[in-house]
Amino acid sequence: MAKFFGNLHLVLVVGFVAAIAVMISFGASAPVDANSVLRWLHIFFGIVWIGLLYYLNFVQVPTMPKIPAEQKGAITGHIAPKVFFFFRYGALLTVLTGLGIAVVSGYAHQAMTFTGEGNVNLIGLGMWLALIMAFNVWFIIWPAQKKILGIVEATAEEKAAAAPRALYASRTNTLLSLPMLYAMVSANLG
Ligand code: HEM
Repeated sequence: MAKFFGNLHLVLVVGFVAAIAVMISFGASAPVDANSVLRWLHIFFGIVWIGLLYYLNFVQVPTMPKIPAEQKGAITGHIAPKVFFFFRYGALLTVLTGLGIAVVSGYAHQAMTFTGEGNVNLIGLGMWLALIMAFNVWFIIWPAQKKILGIVEATAEEKAAAAPRALYASRTNTLLSLPMLYAMVSANLG
């Protein structure tokens, strides 16, 4: 028991095998193809990304001011670097799998240019919102956090300027996540 649940990689491998068992069992009614596998991975990576966005906004950022100064290092030195690793690669893989769904479904161009019909334009809106969010992660939040966390050299002024920039971009993403998720789940383009 302890050996199994103490080993995260093993737990993930067994979860993966369980997913394959579900795919085989329900293959007749839910065919396993590039589209269904990409959708499954898309939601997995989407949860990693947005789960950590909500952890940062709902838990870490509001709690930091209440943590005694001598304990803050546990967050900034140990927790936050891990959070930002899974956060930014979760965002990247969500983008790639999401674009992959649109490409294999054949509506990528129409969706992105809003020249499709009905729900194709709805998923296009969701894709643009999520792309803006991913841009914020990689080109605003992460460069600012590298300075704040001391991963790259920065003067005290640079650190002070980076903090509100990271916060505004992170809050913008929290705001955009609500319409983005509505567009993602409502398009139902199969
Ligand atoms: C740039 C990033 C993203 C792109 C390009 C993208 C693209 C797409 C596309 C093309 C679909 C298929 C729509 C359909 O055919 O019905 C989709 C579905 C979906 N996406 Fe995203 N998406 C992105 C980010 C996200 C994020 C951050 C989440 C959060 C969890 C998410 C969750 C979902 C969900 C739940 C579905 C529904 C899947 C289904 O019904 O089969 N997406 N996305």
